[in-house]
Amino acid sequence: RGDRPLLGKHVVVTSGPTHEPIDPVRYIANRSSGQQGHAIAAALAGLGARVTLVSGPVTLADPAGVETRHVETARQMAAAVDAALPADIVVCAAAVADWRVAGEADQKIKKDGSGQVPALAFVENPDILATVSKPGARRPPLVVGFAAETEKVVDHARAKLARKGCDWIIANDVGSGPDGGVMGAADNAIHIVTAGGVESWPRLAKTEVATRLARRIAETVKERNI
Ligand code: C5P
Repeated sequence: RGDRPLLGKHVVVTSGPTHEPIDPVRYIANRSSGQQGHAIAAALAGLGARVTLVSGPVTLADPAGVETRHVETARQMAAAVDAALPADIVVCAAAVADWRVAGEADQKIKKDGSGQVPALAFVENPDILATVSKPGARRPPLVVGFAAETEKVVDHARAKLARKGCDWIIANDVGSGPDGGVMGAADNAIHIVTAGGVESWPRLAKTEVATRLARRIAETVKERNI
């Protein structure tokens, strides 16, 4: 068990953006490469976990040794996560669109030359992290969420921890300051925010963040006897 401490554990990881259709040819989305989520899925599999990766549209290859389910929308991602449960650990690294377009058009919306522009109305998408974190028999013992913030990173992460009901929030600064600019970049500076406090890590390659996070998760699984 030494080098495979997560043997026998099932982990569900979400990664990438979601695409929310406006009409058959257009969508709105969040900016996300999926690099961090995919690297976490691979690192957890490397420690022996059975990993189900629920991925939005990304250009990355499916990680080796991981069962990958491909989805487009937030609702599809929510359904795929639900279908993958039960799990010992859930890591929500996807950049899920908070809203989808109300009344998606069946046909392409045409530009008719009159200068009129379409108005988009939105409805809220299901919050996968908050849903998974709800107390109950099916709640995974360890639920980890992410927070991409541009300011007051740790304060916002603490608020998010409480609001979502998860166990950890991995906060990263996506602003353009000295620690910013992580979108699509190869490295990331994170803070692990839990009820117990904050652990801040130096700026590391996303693959190294994933390796260390997987080890940190394995330690917690051992400590808490998950
Ligand atoms: O609500 P916000 O997007 O700021 O929170 C980010 C965290 O919540 C991430 O872990 C993200 O994967 C998760 N999330 C989710 N479902 C949503 C919105 C966010 O799982 N609809």
